[in-house]
Amino acid sequence: MSAHPWWQTTVIYQIYPRSFMDSTGNGVGDLPGITSRMDYLADTLGVGAIWISPFYPSPMADFGYDVSNYTDVHPMFGNINDFDALVDAAHRRGLKAIIDWVPNHSSDEHPWFVESRSSRDNPKRDWYVWRDPKPDGSLPNNWLSFFGGPSWEFDDTTGQYYLHSFLAKQPDLNWRNPEVQEAMFEGLQFWLDRDVDGFRIDVAHVVMKDPELRDNPRVPEDWKSKFKSHGEYDTFLHIHDKGHEDNHQLFRDFRALLDSYQPVRYSVGEIHIPDWEEWASYYGEDLDELHMPYNFSMIHAPWSADEIASRVNAMESVLPAGAWPNQVLGNHDEKRLVSRIGADAARVAAMLLLTLRGTPTIYYGDEIAMTEADIAPEDQQDPWGRNLPGAGRDGCRTPMQWDASPSAGFSPGTTWLPVTADYANRNVEAQLSEPGSNLNLYRALLAYRKTSPALQTGTYEQIEAPDGLYAFARESEQGRVLIALNFTEDAVAMPDVVNGKVALSTHRDIDGGDVPTTLRGSEGLIIELP
Ligand code: GLC
Repeated sequence: MSAHPWWQTTVIYQIYPRSFMDSTGNGVGDLPGITSRMDYLADTLGVGAIWISPFYPSPMADFGYDVSNYTDVHPMFGNINDFDALVDAAHRRGLKAIIDWVPNHSSDEHPWFVESRSSRDNPKRDWYVWRDPKPDGSLPNNWLSFFGGPSWEFDDTTGQYYLHSFLAKQPDLNWRNPEVQEAMFEGLQFWLDRDVDGFRIDVAHVVMKDPELRDNPRVPEDWKSKFKSHGEYDTFLHIHDKGHEDNHQLFRDFRALLDSYQPVRYSVGEIHIPDWEEWASYYGEDLDELHMPYNFSMIHAPWSADEIASRVNAMESVLPAGAWPNQVLGNHDEKRLVSRIGADAARVAAMLLLTLRGTPTIYYGDEIAMTEADIAPEDQQDPWGRNLPGAGRDGCRTPMQWDASPSAGFSPGTTWLPVTADYANRNVEAQLSEPGSNLNLYRALLAYRKTSPALQTGTYEQIEAPDGLYAFARESEQGRVLIALNFTEDAVAMPDVVNGKVALSTHRDIDGGDVPTTLRGSEGLIIELP
């Protein structure tokens, strides 16, 4: 269709491997399980790429984001042959396979850290960040862990503290040591040589910190986090414990490694930075860093036409020339979309996600409108939720709902998190046979996007519209479409459209028909213009 590389025209689907499909009956999803659902992904749903969250060997303190071996598969998920079979099955269907890369920290059970903590003069000592207590015995500085408490853990054996931006079981690697970069890049090559198509980089902006480890200042009185609440962590401005400018050199090196491979490999960074300019800097001055920093701005936006439009426009306005945007409405760290904005609005959100300019990422289960599960405090698995009541992420990580059989067809065993209560009605099989279902809406949107150069690669322009409506045009040489999204529950007049035809309505009852004069409550339309 175009000179655009695959990662610009594709749609990514995020799989949380513990929760997608269990092939062994141990109640935890695995790689052969994912492979067994490849037809669903490629044909039934019709996405173009999958991103699989970590499946590496790990003590699972943070469910795989604590890696104890960067170049293997946790036996719970299968083995390296299962991984190769998965990539092969994806590629045979034209799907790209993206995996998670966790550079900021390893597990404390990684052999590198085991060595590092064994003595002060161990050759791997400097692979992690060790510091003496202050003369009065207190912590080296005031940095706090994302997951609660100080980001320093005292180690009795050697009498020093080590840095951990997340759990104490996730010690931060010292990327200022060239040996660390070399070893970590070897890990990347291992997967690149196995034909993975790209990486999602965990907390990419956290990797490089202030080399002097200076204290973070307190936030000004009127400061308000743009992301979800982290308790005491939010009382500091995190100017020294992440986001250091040396990240840019690291990602230039990383990109050079990716670019040495053919066919084209791709990278998307998990970057939570409220300042748009700084966020955009991760594309690189010459577009030589990450292909994209994830754009999380819509996840925490109040659900209103003005708010969403202003965030889209803000993002568009800071993109460096030639940089490619991306959109995301949910992931394994965030409350489920439907439970944030409601079921009707979530259909409008699906249209928004799949019609805006840029590469969309769908979180598994959002296509069947899976809801946030209410997990009793005593059943909480997520360490963050156990440290900070209310912060737990289990609710968005429950097993995928395939059908109405026990455990939703996810597993013949006892599932690691409970299946959500409504699975008997809300599942893939049931929704496939309901023409108006959420799943069939996603399928229609994905199928339409595939045939529409305007949606895949066209320009974006906001169109003036009555209050409550967000309308924008997408245009390419091959055609022009108008997207009109009603963010309210009431009917709203359509902007003036000449001679259009409805390609797709979120209500699914006027597809192919004339353009109505009003949009119904929570209705979205894709209109083909002559
Ligand atoms: C990222 C991941 C999250 C994990 C954290 C620490 O934010 O998305 O799930 O807990 O990094 O690795």
